[in-house]
Amino acid sequence: MSTMTSNISSETSIALEDKYGAHNYHPLPVVLARGEGVYVWDCEGKKYYDFLSAYSAVNQGHCHPKIVGALMEQAQTLTLTSRAFYNDVLGPYEKYITEYFGFDKVLPMNTGAEAVETAIKLCRKWAYEVKGIAENEAKIIVCENNFHGRTTTIISFSNDEGARKNFGPYTPGFIKIPYNDVAALEEAMKQPNVAGFLVEPIQGEAGVYVPNEDFLTHARRICTENNTLFIADEVQTGIARTGSLLAVCGDCTCQGHCEKQSTYNQPDILILGKAVSGGVYPVSAVLANDNIMNVIKPGQHGSTFGGNPLAAKVAVAALEVVVDEKLAQNARELGHLFRAEMNKIIEKTDLVKSVRGKGLLNAILINDTEDSSTAWDICISLRDNGLLAKPTHGNIIRFAPPLVMNKEQLLECVAIIEKTLLEFKK
Ligand SMILES: Cc1ncc(COP(=O)(O)O)c(C=O)c1O
Repeated sequence: MSTMTSNISSETSIALEDKYGAHNYHPLPVVLARGEGVYVWDCEGKKYYDFLSAYSAVNQGHCHPKIVGALMEQAQTLTLTSRAFYNDVLGPYEKYITEYFGFDKVLPMNTGAEAVETAIKLCRKWAYEVKGIAENEAKIIVCENNFHGRTTTIISFSNDEGARKNFGPYTPGFIKIPYNDVAALEEAMKQPNVAGFLVEPIQGEAGVYVPNEDFLTHARRICTENNTLFIADEVQTGIARTGSLLAVCGDCTCQGHCEKQSTYNQPDILILGKAVSGGVYPVSAVLANDNIMNVIKPGQHGSTFGGNPLAAKVAVAALEVVVDEKLAQNARELGHLFRAEMNKIIEKTDLVKSVRGKGLLNAILINDTEDSSTAWDICISLRDNGLLAKPTHGNIIRFAPPLVMNKEQLLECVAIIEKTLLEFKK
């Protein structure tokens, strides 16, 4: 018999959420009570491999001791001052993160969506005050099937009907082009008053769409030629997830502090969230150089919690772990192994059409209609066999384990996935 690790059962937890919580999510029926590294445990003590990592927030693994240690120490010292006053942790954090990613300045926020909002405001203000676009005329190019969060402005340029319907009126000022389409980007740039191009280097939520190898290089070039800002949303792809520190780093294998990034398509505005804190605390960041960031003056943007000492301490520890434990390199190596192993399984079953991804951000495409429940049902079977993953849009299952996984653990996960797929009956 398994040992109870929680004083509340899974069944009770689900019933409480169902009755008292808004129904804005549709979770897989598993209730987690504890996490450590690549593992999580449910209320009844059953152990699972986490193959989602809180949508890539827990890249450094659950409850990483160094990050939790930083949190606990700072929590007993000073948690929140607001930005009405200075605090003694924010400055050192700002120095650390800007040097880490090679930008002049950072604007600290809390969630990914807030950071995207910040980038949009920054881009618009730069357009009016530096580029010289007439007020209220600035346009930002975005991609179809994007996912940048769920605020009113962000859903205004989403094409996910579920995220949009009955939330209007929408914020204007966005031009949508197909993802991974250089010609469409060139064409859209010909429209008047274009201020920036906002893009995910890999579309995660849409189903892990990896663009052509040269797409980001062309995007960078086209933005430069048109004096528009190249804005990379690396909330999900950043912090070593795709086998380099950032997905815009291309094939650069550095672990941060890179000096000669030959394949690096440096964005004008870099948006980070999730794993900046290793999933320990909500921390997001917008990075840019002075010529852009200096358009923001006191009172024009901010957040009570953004840049608080707890967040700052946690973020430094989380970013140090990425370098100390060579997480980008590990994600790269294990990613190659994972896709090779998935391709072997695909040869043995008609249930899966293909695998795609980069580093440890991968997905398998289930061979069934978009509206069938097959991907969901497979995730239930994976759960029963000790591995947690979740379908993204349509019949696609995303696989994104913590980057602290080792080769033996990955192969054990591959075995669970193989067993589940080969035994699965619709
Ligand atoms: C690319 C991207 N941008 C922004 C967000 C929004 O982040 P948050 O949920 O922290 O607001 C997400 C979340 O999944 C994301 O994947």
